[in-house]
Amino acid sequence: MSDKTSNQMWGGRFAAGPDAIMEAINASIGFDKRLAAQDIAGSRAHAAMLAATGIISDSDAEAIREGLLTVLSEIERGEFAFSTALEDIHMNVEARLKEVVGEPAGRLHTGRSRNDQVATDFKLWVRDQFDAFEQGLLALIRALVGQAEAGADWVMPGFTHLQTAQPVTWGHHMMAYVEMFARDLSRVRDARARMNESPLGAAALAGTGFPIDRHMTAQALGFDRPAANSLDAVSDRDFALDFLGAASICAMHLSRFAEELVIWSSAQFRFVALSDRFSTGSSIMPQKKNPDAAELIRAKIGRIFGANVALMTVMKGLPLAYSKDMQEDKEQVFDAADNLMLALAAMDGMVRDMTANVANLEAAASAGFSTATDLADWLVRETGLPFRAAHHVTGALVAMAERKGCDLPDLSLEDMQSVSPAITSGIFDVLGVHNSVASRLSYGGTAPVRVREQVARWKEILG
Ligand code: ARG
Repeated sequence: MSDKTSNQMWGGRFAAGPDAIMEAINASIGFDKRLAAQDIAGSRAHAAMLAATGIISDSDAEAIREGLLTVLSEIERGEFAFSTALEDIHMNVEARLKEVVGEPAGRLHTGRSRNDQVATDFKLWVRDQFDAFEQGLLALIRALVGQAEAGADWVMPGFTHLQTAQPVTWGHHMMAYVEMFARDLSRVRDARARMNESPLGAAALAGTGFPIDRHMTAQALGFDRPAANSLDAVSDRDFALDFLGAASICAMHLSRFAEELVIWSSAQFRFVALSDRFSTGSSIMPQKKNPDAAELIRAKIGRIFGANVALMTVMKGLPLAYSKDMQEDKEQVFDAADNLMLALAAMDGMVRDMTANVANLEAAASAGFSTATDLADWLVRETGLPFRAAHHVTGALVAMAERKGCDLPDLSLEDMQSVSPAITSGIFDVLGVHNSVASRLSYGGTAPVRVREQVARWKEILG
């Protein structure tokens, strides 16, 4: 298929073929074959435009169109012989097109370059990934809203510093992640809208003297408009960085939740049981049920954020316009996208399948003097103490309970009054965890009614 002594695309200027090492470092076909469908879609749009503008004949365009469909089906059937000598997907497709349709194939590359071609192909691929990212997030958000609805009034400990702080509701905790993944969703939609400009027709870097119609190709490929500056169009990889940025933040969110699931499913916490479908056993310890999916999700941030740093570093300091450095963009994004989609799907499955241990959650919520703040608030409300003084009184009561080895509601009224004579039996109403969460009615607070409002809002958004 290829002429080893000199390249069939630019052999005119070359007396010798490349060194084997040159070919090895230069070739991208090993990975950019993933762009085959996008490459062929781009070429079809370009050929149709070349005919519509009279740059090539209708019969040549028709031959190219049919030939490209043949090449596509060869690739889809796994019958295409990818060649490293042909370097990348663009030249592999064009060379095969030449074999299939002959002379008209040589007219396809009129008024374009591999520089606008690769930018277009990669954008189309990343755009699909933004769409898959959006769907993955929506599925996960649905799963979380479902958990929140089921457990809007289950009580669990809320933590700061991973120390028991105040009781919260399970639904409130789930809805916190809904907010995080909703911000991811907004980043994805924002970036998807921003990136949807077509590089095709920017040619090598300066545009072209042929009377091409970039609006026509942009529209055919589903872009909102052609990119306005040809130098920028061929050298922009912001869309890939936007993807990796949004993916990194989302992976960070996934990692935080995964960490909680690892902790919650441990024998020491037993807040949740993960399903058998999303756990593994141990080859030696028969009792083990390991949260491997959660651990792997926790780890995915490593390669996803790594890809972000890698591509940012590749792009840093590159002069305009295209440089071959930019060929290093694809593998990073491919790997990050594959792993992000997998992590989102695994988290979605785990969340749908997990069972909260409501009794353990409530027992843990009651431990650790979690309603001490409620006690202090009661002193402020009922006895008029300034909050700072109430904090002090409550601290003394916590110390007393700790000495006696009991919880706050187990102290007697006499015990309480020995610290502050103004305390009455009404105090016991606020020491229970259900009363505590029910009282947190401020907007965005953990009270079950507030959680149900948020669940209803989200169900309406999700439709
Ligand atoms: N394989 C190249 C890439 O991925 C395609 C563009 C090559 N352009 C060039 N002028 N060498 O970036």
